[in-house]
Amino acid sequence: MANQSQPWNIVWITGASSGIGRDMALKLADEGVTVVASARSQNALNDLASCNSNIVPQPVDVTDLAAMRLAVAHIESTVGPIDLAILNAGVWHPLGARDFDADKVVQSMDVNYNGIVHALDALLPNMIEQKRGHVALVSSVAGYRGLPKAVAYAPSKAAVILLAETLRHDLDRMGVKISVINPGFVDTPMTKINEFPMPFIITSDDAANRIIAGLKKGKYEIAFPWQTNLMMKLIRLMPNWLLFWTTRTFMMSKH
Ligand SMILES: NC(=O)c1ccc[n+]([C@@H]2O[C@H](COP(=O)([O-])OP(=O)(O)OC[C@H]3O[C@@H](n4cnc5c(N)ncnc54)[C@H](OP(=O)(O)O)[C@@H]3O)[C@@H](O)[C@H]2O)c1
Repeated sequence: MANQSQPWNIVWITGASSGIGRDMALKLADEGVTVVASARSQNALNDLASCNSNIVPQPVDVTDLAAMRLAVAHIESTVGPIDLAILNAGVWHPLGARDFDADKVVQSMDVNYNGIVHALDALLPNMIEQKRGHVALVSSVAGYRGLPKAVAYAPSKAAVILLAETLRHDLDRMGVKISVINPGFVDTPMTKINEFPMPFIITSDDAANRIIAGLKKGKYEIAFPWQTNLMMKLIRLMPNWLLFWTTRTFMMSKH
């Protein structure tokens, strides 16, 4: 049985060693949820677990399918059935045509997309059989349309948005909830490297609150802040000629 203040007893978060994932882990643990926190950095996860005894560290690399299957089996046998999985691990490499780098493009797809696929492979059979559970896929408003510098990132996030949409048709009828989370700019270690303006940037704490609130309401798409979401949804509606004119005029340097 879930406790009274929120709908989950056990939440698994990938990418929990820093940024938004870490803040979500701390908030949910404060509310009495048992949070299994995953990432590659064992030390950071141990640090996190030392902040709250409701946090259980479970190091795993999301790009390793066998390790992900083992991690989920271990969580379910030692902690209990996962009520909510927030598949949040991600990497961002600002990249365009001039510095195109196959390793970075492939790594982005491996972590941002295949990492989620690996988690779903491990989670869905049990959830479907038991007609229960909630999976939340962290994508980005960057997945709505291909914008400059996002050669590695945007395709991986667009794929996540379509993965959620495609799965929802089936999962809806199987008693399993699916959500897709599309943040705009959030101030985390990921965005520290950015040298361009980041309009409407919010704190990681704020992002964690918005995601948890949206998941509690059972929302399918959780996109924020509204200004960035609206701007990116309008860009999504642009015909190709207008998109390329807009980026050429307002977003690209002249060389
Ligand atoms: N910050 C933003 O503006 C923004 C906007 C839209 C969407 N997002 C998305 O939000 C999510 C969280 O990002 P953040 O901003 O909180 O970034 P962050 O602070 O850099 O956190 C990324 C997390 O992913 C983990 N990770 C990376 N590669 C991994 C791997 N192979 N296996 C397991 N874990 C891995 C990292 O831990 P280890 O390095 O320890 O493995 C870390 O915990 C990402 O999916 C990101 O794309 C962020």
